[in-house]
Order: sequence, then structure tokens, then C-alpha cells
Amino acid sequence: MPTITAGLNGLGRFGLHLLRAWLDLPDPPLRITAINDAHHTLASAVRVLSEDPKVSFSDCQIRADGDALLIARHGQATLRIAYSHGPAAHAPWLGQTDWWLECSGAHPGALQCRRFLAGQTRRVLVSATCHDADQTLVFGYNHESFDPAAEVISYGSCTVNAFVPLAHWLQRHYGVDNAEVSVIHNVPAHRLANHPHPERRACTLETEGPRLLPFLAPAAFRVDYVLIPYTGVSLIDFRFGLAMPPSEAVLLDALDTACASGELKGLVRLSPVNAGPQAFALSPESVVLLRPRARLTGKRLVLPACFDNENSATRYLDLLAFMARRGG
Ligand SMILES: NC(=O)c1ccc[n+]([C@@H]2O[C@H](COP(=O)([O-])OP(=O)(O)OC[C@H]3O[C@@H](n4cnc5c(N)ncnc54)[C@H](OP(=O)(O)O)[C@@H]3O)[C@@H](O)[C@H]2O)c1
Repeated sequence: MPTITAGLNGLGRFGLHLLRAWLDLPDPPLRITAINDAHHTLASAVRVLSEDPKVSFSDCQIRADGDALLIARHGQATLRIAYSHGPAAHAPWLGQTDWWLECSGAHPGALQCRRFLAGQTRRVLVSATCHDADQTLVFGYNHESFDPAAEVISYGSCTVNAFVPLAHWLQRHYGVDNAEVSVIHNVPAHRLANHPHPERRACTLETEGPRLLPFLAPAAFRVDYVLIPYTGVSLIDFRFGLAMPPSEAVLLDALDTACASGELKGLVRLSPVNAGPQAFALSPESVVLLRPRARLTGKRLVLPACFDNENSATRYLDLLAFMARRGG
């Protein structure tokens, strides 16, 4: 039985993907023992888990029992997860788990998160950019620099995880002089009515990229981000100015090897086909690059891609599992 206990605050799109990915871990090094959500009652959480059109829990029997969510799976002990509905600060289990998994989006700053450091709870892991977190750890890039003294840790964001390990790999092999990212980001179905038109937005990757990657000057990096009224898998295109590129074929073959068996394995996929975004739903990689659309012209590398932004919860879980195995 894992010794580290965690409470999940936020059963929105991210929390749902996280719960599914955690259930799928063959040997989980942490236990989710409590869930709080500001929007879903226990009854509606049971409904969401039973009926979500994308994240399937069809291998589980899910029901409510008193104040708990019960998840039963064939051949496994039934999981009993304390469930509460309301503001996070009123969760009856506050202070009773080792970690607080802050996945609601309602507490974006470290100061707000520190109030969850009560009782037994010694760490808050934020599922989004948190500029004043003690550490931002991007799995596959700098997670090894985990400081056990850090109390509030951000995992980055979906776009940070899609960009940073890839940019770091390109820098190490060919040198990166500048980069641009264009994001076409989806909207969850429950928010569609509030976003009837495309909206240009600032993206936290624009500040986090240069902050995490010392070789990337803020003036040499730009992100254009558009939220569109669409619920499917999102799109992300990268453009890099490389210092010393080889030929296009050599670069893409090296990238293919890095994705298949090298340092980008599990983080980035290079798809040999230019499939539509929905083909990459639930992809466990942070981003899927489309090889037929990739091109290198002189020193300019263009990498069109798709990413299941919600399923970036798998990177968050990779980070949690790593920290838990390091002793929490
Ligand atoms: N989704 C992603 O692609 C993604 C990727 C990486 C990181 N994150 C981060 O993870 C955090 C949570 O994001 P999220 O995408 O999980 O948020 P979400 O699904 O939009 O849930 C957040 C809020 O939306 C409302 N809501 C949730 N489910 C609802 C439903 N079925 N019907 C109506 N309203 C509902 C609730 O707030 P109200 O009831 O108060 O409206 C809820 O607190 C954020 O910090 C986000 O930046 C998200």
C-alpha cells in the first residue's frame, strides 16, 4: 500500500483525466484518498464518472456511499475516496492528506495555495502555471531538481509541457536562436456558451518558456494563443530558428529516434501520418508532431502538432509519481 496520501481539489476536465490515469497506474506510489469539487455534488460526480463521453470509467463500478465515492474494479479492492462539495477551504479533509492536488484552477497563486498547508499536508501541487510557486517542475526536463523542502510546486501547464522538453532537445542538438508557438486551444463543453467566438489570449508559456529555458531570451520568443469554441483535441505549431541545423531528413530522423527510444520518449510523439486532431485524443504524450507537415527551410524549422491538452494530467501524474518515489 503506498504511504503517501493525496487529496484532489477539482474534478473538472483535468481532475477527471488525472483520476483515470492514476487508476491505470500499475503500481501507484500514492493514494488519492479524498476529492473536493466546488461544482459537482457527490451525485453529479458519480454521473460524470459514469457518463463522460471522453474519459471512460467503464471498467469500474462507481457509486456513492455516505460521503464517499466508491470505485470497484474486477479483481481489486474497492477504493473508498472521501468526497466533499463546496469551497476548497471548507473541505472536511483539509489537513488530513500528505499532499493537496490543486486542480481546480480556482487558486492560481502560491499564497492562495499555502492555506492548504495545514495539519498533515506538507505539499501543494498546482495543475497550472503558478508564477510564485517554490518550484516549477516540468517532467522530462527539470523534475530531477525536485527540492523536498518545496511546499508549492507547479507542474507547468499543457503548453509548457508540450514546448519545453522539445525546445531543450533542439537546443542541445542544433542550438535554438528563437522560437514561436501558435496555439489553437479547445474549450470544455460546459464552457462553450461563454465562448461563442474565437478569442485571442495571453498564454503563460510566453513568460514560462524563457524562465525555464535560460537559452531562450524573452525577446526571441513569442506565443500566439487562440481559444476557439470547439471541444476536441487542440493544435499547437512550433517554429524554431536553429543555429546549426542538419538536413531536414537527418533532423527528423534524429527527432524520431529521440521520441521512440531517447530522451523525448513518452513526452513527444512524431506521427508518420497527418491525422486529424481527434486521432490523438487521450494520447499520453504531451504533444504529437506531424512528420508529413514538418519542414526545415534554411535555419527555420516548422513543426505542426496536436495535443490533448486535458490529458496533460498524465505529465502531472508522472511528476507526482516521481516525487512520491523520492519519498514525497
Ligand atoms: N483542461 C485543460 O486542458 C488543462 C490542461 C492543463 C492544465 N489545466 C489546469 O487545470 C485547472 C483546471 O482546469 P479544468 O480544465 O479541469 O477546468 P474545468 O473543467 O473548466 O473546471 C473548472 C470549473 O468549471 C466549472 N465546471 C466544471 N465542470 C462543470 C460542468 N460539468 N458543468 C458546468 N461547469 C463546470 C466549475 O466551476 P464553476 O461551477 O464555479 O463554474 C469548475 O470549478 C486549471 O488551472 C487549468 O489551467 C487544464
